[in-house]
Amino acid sequence: MTPPSIRDRTILVTGGAGFIGSHLVDALVDDNDVRVLDDLSTGEREHVHDDATLLEGDVRDQQALERATRDVDLIFHEAAVVGVTETVEQPAETNRVNLEAGLELLEQARREDARVVLASSAAVYGHPDELPVSETASTDPASPYGIQKLALDEYARLYADLYDLPTVALRYFNAYGPRQRGPYSGVISTFLEQARAGDPITVEGDGEQTRDFVHVEDLVRANLLAATTDDVGEAYNVGTGERTSILELAETIREATDADVPIVHREPRVGDVRHSRADVSKARRTLGFEATIGLQTGIRDLVGRESLEEATMIDREGESYS
Ligand code: NAD
Ligand code: UD1
Repeated sequence: MTPPSIRDRTILVTGGAGFIGSHLVDALVDDNDVRVLDDLSTGEREHVHDDATLLEGDVRDQQALERATRDVDLIFHEAAVVGVTETVEQPAETNRVNLEAGLELLEQARREDARVVLASSAAVYGHPDELPVSETASTDPASPYGIQKLALDEYARLYADLYDLPTVALRYFNAYGPRQRGPYSGVISTFLEQARAGDPITVEGDGEQTRDFVHVEDLVRANLLAATTDDVGEAYNVGTGERTSILELAETIREATDADVPIVHREPRVGDVRHSRADVSKARRTLGFEATIGLQTGIRDLVGRESLEEATMIDREGESYS
């Protein structure tokens, strides 16, 4: 259900075939005219709701961007190269997607006078000096990804100051939930895939590093609140305020899936952030946002859904041979 104020709008969701974007589309599509601009590089066509219009294209393509933004009231910008490692391997190429295309999108929004809600990231803080990390903490990215996200997040603020464009940057912490998959997806989907396949769970380093894992449904709610707030030109942390170690997570997933698989350690990731936990007081105070789904509940729900999908697939296979 969308808030009453997000109705009868023309909305663009870039990256709307992806994990977070597709959930956002689902939340908006009943009451609005929703377009998706996605090159399907990691997103999937079948994740895009039937009632949304999928424009298959690259955010770096000026014409595609102009077409997608024409007459829109509201833009949620989710398209990006999300894997931190990919940006370390290809800083210049990923900069074109994560920063340059985002800046061009702000230009188009200025032309259309459209509000923009941007997917920023906890990666802007790098290795935080203090936890929980608040929006006023120093920003010191530890990867090209963090620099790209920070620059766009700052541009969004500047566009609000200079041009009066209503923008909001949401600094997501570690997202998880249904539809997150693939080689560069987050640790929860990787561990779940490993456990279900009967493979060892691969912890990088000692596993004592911690993250603030936030469920995609909570992220969607934060986006809807950001789309209606009067407090624009601001960045907000979106997390739970809790942190969990990667080793605890591996144990939780092993238990939840009932998998008899070992936990193995690999080399730590170069440049990996050691600890991360959001101070969510600004989002609570200003947006009225509070995460509602705890990690244990979120993981149990994910495991339940996957079992259901698997059972349905077995049924279908059975049918096709009968
Ligand atoms: P995702 O990879 O599932 O979604 C990204 C989508 O963007 C995909 O559908 C992909 O096909 C599309 N895309 C990529 N490059 C494109 C291009 N050049 N042109 C058009 N479309 C393109 O990832 P996600 O986890 O849903 O991430 C959504 C946003 O949230 C991203 O901006 C990401 O940086 C940000 N974010 C994610 C997390 C997380 O933990 N998943 C945390 C912080 C921030
Ligand atoms: C994630 C997001 C990034 C976002 C950031 C915000 C993804 C792919 N990346 O980065 O977009 O901006 O959160 O906080 O969602 N790990 C293992 N074994 C594995 C995989 C990962 O031990 O098989 C460890 C990593 O070393 C890391 C932790 O799990 O310490 C989290 O890794 P990952 O899920 O890739 O997320 P981040 O790098 O935190």
